[in-house]
Amino acid sequence: MKTIESVTGIRSALEETAGPAGRRTLVPTMGALHRGHMELIKRARQHAGPGGTVIVSIFVNPIQFDHKSDLDQYPRPVEADLEKCMAAGVDVVFMPRADEIYHPDRSVTVSETSLSRSLCGATRPGHFDGVCTVVLKLFLLTGCHAAVFGEKDYQQLAIIRRMVRDLDVPVEILACPTVRESDGLAMSSRNVRLHARQRADAPRIHRALCEAAKLARVPEILAAARAGIEGSDMARIDYLSLVDAETLQPAESLVHPAILATAVFYGEVRLIDHVRLG
Ligand code: PAF
Repeated sequence: MKTIESVTGIRSALEETAGPAGRRTLVPTMGALHRGHMELIKRARQHAGPGGTVIVSIFVNPIQFDHKSDLDQYPRPVEADLEKCMAAGVDVVFMPRADEIYHPDRSVTVSETSLSRSLCGATRPGHFDGVCTVVLKLFLLTGCHAAVFGEKDYQQLAIIRRMVRDLDVPVEILACPTVRESDGLAMSSRNVRLHARQRADAPRIHRALCEAAKLARVPEILAAARAGIEGSDMARIDYLSLVDAETLQPAESLVHPAILATAVFYGEVRLIDHVRLG
Protein backbone atom coordinates (compact mmCIF):
# COMPACT_ATOMS: atom_id res chain seq x y z
CA MET A 1 0.00 0.00 0.00
CA LYS A 2 1.29 3.45 -0.92
CA THR A 3 0.60 6.50 1.21
CA ILE A 4 0.77 9.72 -0.76
CA GLU A 5 0.66 13.14 0.87
CA SER A 6 1.18 15.44 -2.09
CA VAL A 7 -0.72 16.38 -5.21
CA THR A 8 2.28 15.74 -7.47
CA GLY A 9 2.87 12.43 -5.67
CA ILE A 10 -0.64 11.11 -6.39
CA ARG A 11 -0.24 11.63 -10.12
CA SER A 12 3.05 9.76 -10.39
CA ALA A 13 1.95 7.01 -7.95
CA LEU A 14 -1.14 6.33 -10.03
CA GLU A 15 0.80 6.23 -13.28
CA GLU A 16 2.92 3.47 -11.75
CA THR A 17 0.08 1.46 -10.17
CA ALA A 18 -2.54 1.43 -12.93
CA GLY A 19 -2.29 -1.71 -15.02
CA PRO A 20 -3.58 -1.66 -18.62
CA ALA A 21 -7.02 -2.96 -17.63
CA GLY A 22 -6.87 -1.18 -14.31
CA ARG A 23 -10.03 0.41 -13.04
CA ARG A 24 -9.33 3.10 -10.49
CA THR A 25 -12.00 3.21 -7.82
CA LEU A 26 -11.96 5.98 -5.25
CA VAL A 27 -13.42 5.99 -1.75
CA PRO A 28 -13.42 9.64 -0.62
CA THR A 29 -13.38 9.93 3.20
CA MET A 30 -12.52 12.35 5.96
CA GLY A 31 -10.86 9.55 7.93
CA ALA A 32 -11.79 8.18 11.37
CA LEU A 33 -12.67 5.05 9.44
CA HIS A 34 -15.39 2.78 10.82
CA ARG A 35 -17.26 -0.31 9.61
CA GLY A 36 -19.34 1.82 7.24
CA HIS A 37 -16.17 2.95 5.46
CA MET A 38 -14.92 -0.65 5.37
CA GLU A 39 -18.06 -1.59 3.40
CA LEU A 40 -17.31 1.22 0.92
CA ILE A 41 -13.76 -0.07 0.53
CA LYS A 42 -15.01 -3.64 0.04
CA ARG A 43 -17.36 -2.41 -2.69
CA ALA A 44 -14.51 -0.48 -4.31
CA ARG A 45 -12.31 -3.60 -4.26
CA GLN A 46 -15.05 -5.68 -5.93
CA HIS A 47 -15.64 -3.00 -8.55
CA ALA A 48 -11.95 -2.40 -9.31
CA GLY A 49 -11.27 -6.13 -9.66
CA PRO A 50 -7.89 -7.77 -9.12
CA GLY A 51 -6.14 -5.68 -11.80
CA GLY A 52 -7.63 -2.40 -10.64
CA THR A 53 -6.56 0.18 -8.08
CA VAL A 54 -8.47 1.09 -4.94
CA ILE A 55 -7.70 4.59 -3.69
CA VAL A 56 -8.90 5.90 -0.34
CA SER A 57 -8.62 9.64 0.17
CA ILE A 58 -8.43 10.89 3.74
CA PHE A 59 -8.96 14.63 3.84
CA VAL A 60 -10.82 16.62 6.47
CA ASN A 61 -12.13 19.18 4.03
CA PRO A 62 -12.08 22.59 5.77
CA ILE A 63 -14.43 24.28 3.29
CA GLN A 64 -17.38 22.01 4.06
CA PHE A 65 -17.44 22.81 7.79
CA ASP A 66 -19.67 25.62 8.95
CA HIS A 67 -18.22 25.77 12.49
CA LYS A 68 -14.53 25.95 13.22
CA SER A 69 -15.01 23.99 16.46
CA ASP A 70 -16.52 21.06 14.48
CA LEU A 71 -13.53 21.13 12.11
CA ASP A 72 -11.04 21.33 14.99
CA GLN A 73 -12.69 18.49 16.91
CA TYR A 74 -13.14 16.19 13.93
CA PRO A 75 -11.35 12.93 14.92
CA ARG A 76 -8.05 12.26 13.08
CA PRO A 77 -6.73 8.80 14.11
CA VAL A 78 -4.25 8.60 11.22
CA GLU A 79 -2.27 5.52 12.29
CA ALA A 80 -5.40 3.47 12.96
CA ASP A 81 -6.87 4.57 9.62
CA LEU A 82 -3.76 3.48 7.74
CA GLU A 83 -3.79 0.09 9.46
CA LYS A 84 -7.44 -0.41 8.49
CA CYS A 85 -6.72 0.53 4.88
CA MET A 86 -3.79 -1.88 4.76
CA ALA A 87 -5.90 -4.72 6.20
CA ALA A 88 -8.68 -3.99 3.71
CA GLY A 89 -6.35 -4.33 0.70
CA VAL A 90 -6.33 -0.66 -0.31
CA ASP A 91 -3.67 0.11 -2.94
CA VAL A 92 -3.20 3.85 -2.41
CA VAL A 93 -4.08 6.19 0.45
CA PHE A 94 -4.13 9.85 -0.56
CA MET A 95 -3.82 12.21 2.41
CA PRO A 96 -3.13 15.71 1.05
CA ARG A 97 -2.57 18.78 3.19
CA ALA A 98 -5.24 21.49 2.99
CA ASP A 99 -2.77 24.07 1.65
CA GLU A 100 -2.00 21.74 -1.28
CA ILE A 101 -5.65 21.32 -2.15
CA TYR A 102 -6.68 24.97 -1.80
CA HIS A 103 -4.79 27.95 -3.12
CA PRO A 104 -4.96 30.90 -0.70
CA ASP A 105 -6.61 33.04 -3.40
CA ARG A 106 -8.85 30.32 -4.83
CA SER A 107 -11.95 31.73 -6.50
CA VAL A 108 -13.72 28.79 -8.17
CA THR A 109 -16.35 26.74 -6.35
CA VAL A 110 -18.73 24.05 -7.59
CA SER A 111 -22.31 24.89 -6.58
CA GLU A 112 -25.38 22.72 -6.90
CA THR A 113 -28.40 24.99 -6.70
CA SER A 114 -31.48 22.83 -6.28
CA LEU A 115 -31.07 19.63 -4.29
CA SER A 116 -28.76 21.42 -1.87
CA ARG A 117 -31.41 23.94 -0.77
CA SER A 118 -33.24 21.64 1.68
CA LEU A 119 -32.27 19.40 4.63
CA CYS A 120 -28.58 19.78 5.58
CA GLY A 121 -28.11 22.45 2.91
CA ALA A 122 -30.71 24.68 4.55
CA THR A 123 -29.13 24.58 8.00
CA ARG A 124 -25.48 24.44 6.82
CA PRO A 125 -25.18 27.10 4.09
CA GLY A 126 -22.17 26.48 1.82
CA HIS A 127 -21.66 22.94 3.07
CA PHE A 128 -22.48 21.25 -0.24
CA ASP A 129 -20.43 23.76 -2.25
CA GLY A 130 -17.50 22.56 -0.15
CA VAL A 131 -18.40 18.92 -0.72
CA CYS A 132 -18.88 19.28 -4.50
CA THR A 133 -15.69 21.29 -4.89
CA VAL A 134 -13.51 18.80 -3.04
CA VAL A 135 -15.14 15.73 -4.58
CA LEU A 136 -14.64 17.06 -8.11
CA LYS A 137 -11.01 17.91 -7.27
CA LEU A 138 -10.45 14.40 -5.88
CA PHE A 139 -11.97 12.89 -9.04
CA LEU A 140 -9.63 14.99 -11.20
CA LEU A 141 -6.53 14.42 -9.07
CA THR A 142 -6.97 10.66 -8.93
CA GLY A 143 -8.37 10.17 -12.46
CA CYS A 144 -10.75 7.61 -10.95
CA HIS A 145 -13.26 5.72 -13.11
CA ALA A 146 -15.65 5.08 -10.23
CA ALA A 147 -16.22 6.35 -6.70
CA VAL A 148 -18.12 4.87 -3.77
CA PHE A 149 -20.31 6.83 -1.34
CA GLY A 150 -22.51 5.84 1.60
CA GLU A 151 -26.29 6.12 1.40
CA LYS A 152 -26.30 7.44 4.96
CA ASP A 153 -25.45 10.84 3.47
CA TYR A 154 -28.50 10.62 1.20
CA GLN A 155 -28.50 14.27 0.16
CA GLN A 156 -24.74 14.29 -0.47
CA LEU A 157 -25.08 11.24 -2.72
CA ALA A 158 -27.97 12.81 -4.67
CA ILE A 159 -26.01 16.05 -5.14
CA ILE A 160 -22.85 14.26 -6.29
CA ARG A 161 -24.90 12.24 -8.79
CA ARG A 162 -26.42 15.50 -10.06
CA MET A 163 -22.97 17.13 -10.33
CA VAL A 164 -21.64 14.16 -12.32
CA ARG A 165 -24.69 14.21 -14.61
CA ASP A 166 -24.75 17.97 -15.17
CA LEU A 167 -20.98 18.39 -15.68
CA ASP A 168 -20.52 15.14 -17.68
CA VAL A 169 -17.92 13.93 -15.20
CA PRO A 170 -16.73 10.51 -16.44
CA VAL A 171 -16.94 8.83 -13.04
CA GLU A 172 -19.41 6.08 -12.15
CA ILE A 173 -21.04 6.69 -8.76
CA LEU A 174 -21.60 3.59 -6.63
CA ALA A 175 -23.59 3.59 -3.40
CA CYS A 176 -23.53 1.37 -0.29
CA PRO A 177 -26.36 1.02 2.23
CA THR A 178 -26.07 2.66 5.67
CA VAL A 179 -24.22 0.48 8.18
CA ARG A 180 -25.67 0.52 11.70
CA GLU A 181 -24.52 -0.40 15.18
CA SER A 182 -26.42 -3.34 16.71
CA ASP A 183 -28.75 -0.86 18.48
CA GLY A 184 -29.64 0.87 15.19
CA LEU A 185 -27.44 3.99 15.46
CA ALA A 186 -26.09 4.86 12.00
CA MET A 187 -22.30 4.56 11.92
CA SER A 188 -20.58 7.93 11.77
CA SER A 189 -17.11 9.23 12.52
CA ARG A 190 -18.80 11.67 14.90
CA ASN A 191 -20.23 8.89 17.13
CA VAL A 192 -16.94 8.67 19.07
CA ARG A 193 -17.52 12.24 20.27
CA LEU A 194 -20.75 11.28 22.10
CA HIS A 195 -20.52 10.90 25.90
CA ALA A 196 -21.69 7.56 27.28
CA ARG A 197 -25.20 8.86 28.14
CA GLN A 198 -25.59 10.51 24.75
CA ARG A 199 -24.38 7.38 22.97
CA ALA A 200 -26.89 5.26 24.90
CA ASP A 201 -29.70 7.67 23.96
CA ALA A 202 -28.83 8.26 20.28
CA PRO A 203 -30.42 5.06 18.83
CA ARG A 204 -33.76 6.77 19.52
CA ILE A 205 -33.22 8.71 16.28
CA HIS A 206 -33.48 5.63 14.09
CA ARG A 207 -36.23 4.13 16.26
CA ALA A 208 -38.31 7.31 15.99
CA LEU A 209 -37.90 7.46 12.19
CA CYS A 210 -38.84 3.78 11.78
CA GLU A 211 -41.91 4.07 14.03
CA ALA A 212 -43.08 7.24 12.28
CA ALA A 213 -42.58 5.65 8.85
CA LYS A 214 -45.31 3.13 9.68
CA LEU A 215 -47.93 5.91 9.71
CA ALA A 216 -49.98 6.92 6.70
CA ARG A 217 -50.27 10.73 6.65
CA VAL A 218 -47.51 13.31 6.37
CA PRO A 219 -48.44 15.46 9.44
CA GLU A 220 -48.75 12.34 11.63
CA ILE A 221 -45.42 11.02 10.41
CA LEU A 222 -43.62 14.27 11.19
CA ALA A 223 -45.33 14.65 14.58
CA ALA A 224 -44.52 11.08 15.61
CA ALA A 225 -40.87 11.35 14.55
CA ARG A 226 -40.51 14.67 16.41
CA ALA A 227 -42.10 13.25 19.56
CA GLY A 228 -39.86 10.18 19.43
CA ILE A 229 -36.67 12.22 19.14
CA GLU A 230 -37.67 14.97 21.55
CA GLY A 231 -38.61 12.35 24.15
CA SER A 232 -35.01 12.88 25.27
CA ASP A 233 -33.79 16.05 26.98
CA MET A 234 -30.36 15.45 25.38
CA ALA A 235 -31.51 15.48 21.74
CA ARG A 236 -32.09 18.79 19.91
CA ILE A 237 -33.54 18.61 16.40
CA ASP A 238 -31.70 20.69 13.79
CA TYR A 239 -34.22 19.73 11.10
CA LEU A 240 -36.79 17.03 10.56
CA SER A 241 -38.32 16.83 7.07
CA LEU A 242 -40.20 14.53 4.80
CA VAL A 243 -39.02 15.16 1.25
CA ASP A 244 -39.55 13.70 -2.20
CA ALA A 245 -36.80 11.09 -2.71
CA GLU A 246 -35.79 12.62 -6.07
CA THR A 247 -36.28 16.35 -5.82
CA LEU A 248 -35.63 16.63 -2.05
CA GLN A 249 -38.50 19.14 -1.91
CA PRO A 250 -41.03 18.82 0.95
CA ALA A 251 -43.44 15.96 0.30
CA GLU A 252 -47.09 16.80 0.77
CA SER A 253 -48.30 13.24 0.28
CA LEU A 254 -46.84 9.77 -0.05
CA VAL A 255 -47.72 9.31 -3.72
CA HIS A 256 -44.01 9.21 -4.65
CA PRO A 257 -41.14 7.62 -2.71
CA ALA A 258 -40.09 9.95 0.09
CA ILE A 259 -37.27 10.35 2.58
CA LEU A 260 -37.90 11.09 6.24
CA ALA A 261 -34.64 12.75 7.24
CA THR A 262 -33.32 14.41 10.35
CA ALA A 263 -30.25 16.01 11.86
CA VAL A 264 -30.07 15.93 15.64
CA PHE A 265 -27.62 17.61 17.99
CA TYR A 266 -26.33 15.85 21.09
CA GLY A 267 -24.43 18.72 22.67
CA GLU A 268 -22.17 19.91 19.84
CA VAL A 269 -22.27 16.59 17.98
CA ARG A 270 -24.59 16.60 14.99
CA LEU A 271 -25.92 13.24 13.81
CA ILE A 272 -27.93 12.62 10.64
CA ASP A 273 -30.16 9.74 9.66
CA HIS A 274 -33.05 8.96 7.31
CA VAL A 275 -35.49 6.25 6.29
CA ARG A 276 -37.14 5.72 2.92
CA LEU A 277 -40.93 5.59 2.60
CA GLY A 278 -42.90 4.17 -0.26
O1 PAF B 1 -18.82 12.07 3.29
C1 PAF B 1 -17.70 12.54 3.55
O2 PAF B 1 -16.92 11.98 4.34
C2 PAF B 1 -17.27 13.85 2.90
O3 PAF B 1 -18.35 14.71 2.75
C3 PAF B 1 -16.53 13.64 1.57
C4 PAF B 1 -17.43 13.00 0.53
C5 PAF B 1 -15.30 12.78 1.79
C6 PAF B 1 -16.08 15.00 1.02
O4 PAF B 1 -15.21 15.63 1.90
